[in-house]
Amino acid sequence: MTEGQPVQQAQTPAPATPPIVPSYNPKGPFEATVVFNKPLHQKFYRLGLQFAGPGAEAFAKTRPGQFAQFDLSNIALPPADAIPEELKDESARQILLRRPFSFARVAKEVIPSAHSAPGQTAHPKPVSSGVGKIIAEVVYCVLGPATLRMTTLVKGNPINVIGPLGNGFTVPAGKKRALLVAGGMGSPPLEHLAQVLTLEHPTMDAIAFAGAKTKEDLPFDRPLDNLSREIGFWLKEFGRYSISSFVATDDGSAGFKGFVSACILDWLSQNALSFNPAEAIIYACGPRSMLTTIAKLARDKKIDCQISMEEMMACGIGLCQSCAVKCVAPVGGGIPAGDKSPTAETYKLCCKDGPVFDAKEIVF
Ligand SMILES: Cc1cc2nc3c(=O)[nH]c(=O)nc-3n(C[C@H](O)[C@H](O)[C@H](O)COP(=O)(O)OP(=O)(O)OC[C@H]3O[C@@H](n4cnc5c(N)ncnc54)[C@H](O)[C@@H]3O)c2cc1C
Ligand code: FES
Repeated sequence: MTEGQPVQQAQTPAPATPPIVPSYNPKGPFEATVVFNKPLHQKFYRLGLQFAGPGAEAFAKTRPGQFAQFDLSNIALPPADAIPEELKDESARQILLRRPFSFARVAKEVIPSAHSAPGQTAHPKPVSSGVGKIIAEVVYCVLGPATLRMTTLVKGNPINVIGPLGNGFTVPAGKKRALLVAGGMGSPPLEHLAQVLTLEHPTMDAIAFAGAKTKEDLPFDRPLDNLSREIGFWLKEFGRYSISSFVATDDGSAGFKGFVSACILDWLSQNALSFNPAEAIIYACGPRSMLTTIAKLARDKKIDCQISMEEMMACGIGLCQSCAVKCVAPVGGGIPAGDKSPTAETYKLCCKDGPVFDAKEIVF
């Protein structure tokens, strides 16, 4: 130091703001309470779960496409005569592992204020105040021992839940049109996406396409018979968000006769003049065969596409490696650009890196 220069005072570092650490594990486990468990038709049900306290705080942030792991091991089986013949053997199986489910709708429960004037709308309380509660809705299909047990849940029953888990759908900058494509049981996360697009991207022009083998395989709460030959359905699950919807069935028992991908191609050809692929994005969830076709359609039409892969899962939190998905990535990482840059095959975990992937990443 040069003589005569003012001595610089050692700066006392400003006290660092301590990170906000929640007083609970942000993924739970949480206890949810059943508020309804409504049969839709055939083997489909809609289950409403109420979360309070830290569970409400965690699930208020659920993004569409995220999922939760449910512990159903202690739930009772239905009486023997209510168990479908094809599930009789399997139903006795012990359920050791949690089961993954995504959500069809997540909303704050509005508690009317005691001080509200008559006719005045009650405002939702902030969830963190401890007053707010979250209602998360699950649409499920009875396939085996766990989902069979879910049918016996009644109002007031508790369920132990870990989540929200995984990533979820995103809206890239510049997108103005969303094509929501659901195959069979793939509809719940797209219904949730419809809710979130309406709230957070109200100018987004969205349309939904729902496909299944037959009308009995469509997990919606509406009799499809009367209108089954018409194409322009208005499924109330999407209609409540002012999103119009098309139904396609392989056998033509409802809506468009053929695969949902053919229904989309039909719609694209009718809307070619007003459709700009660069401003559009496809969001899809459903069986692998449908996702393969939709990913190809998106590539051919140069439309960005995000798909939710519902792989079989065990732990759901990235520990067991049972949900590995074969992917391709540019050398050095990132998402394939679709050009001739070198890429290499790699594996990602559906539960941790997904379940939502850019369609260009997946090796089908
Ligand atoms: C991220 C994610 C989200 C999901 N969201 C939902 C949802 O919203 N609603 C819903 O009903 N189901 C959903 N599932 C599937 C659900 O987890 C299974 O249906 C459930 O675990 C079946 O349990 P089970 O004991 O009743 O039947 P199991 O005996 O475990 O399975 C019955 C049959 O279904 C098949 N199966 C089980 N899981 C899958 C799967 N992931 N993909 C393809 N076939 C499967 C099995 O091979 C078997 O043939 C989701 C799965 C994942 C991974
Ligand atoms: S389910 Fe265990 S790692 Fe994904």
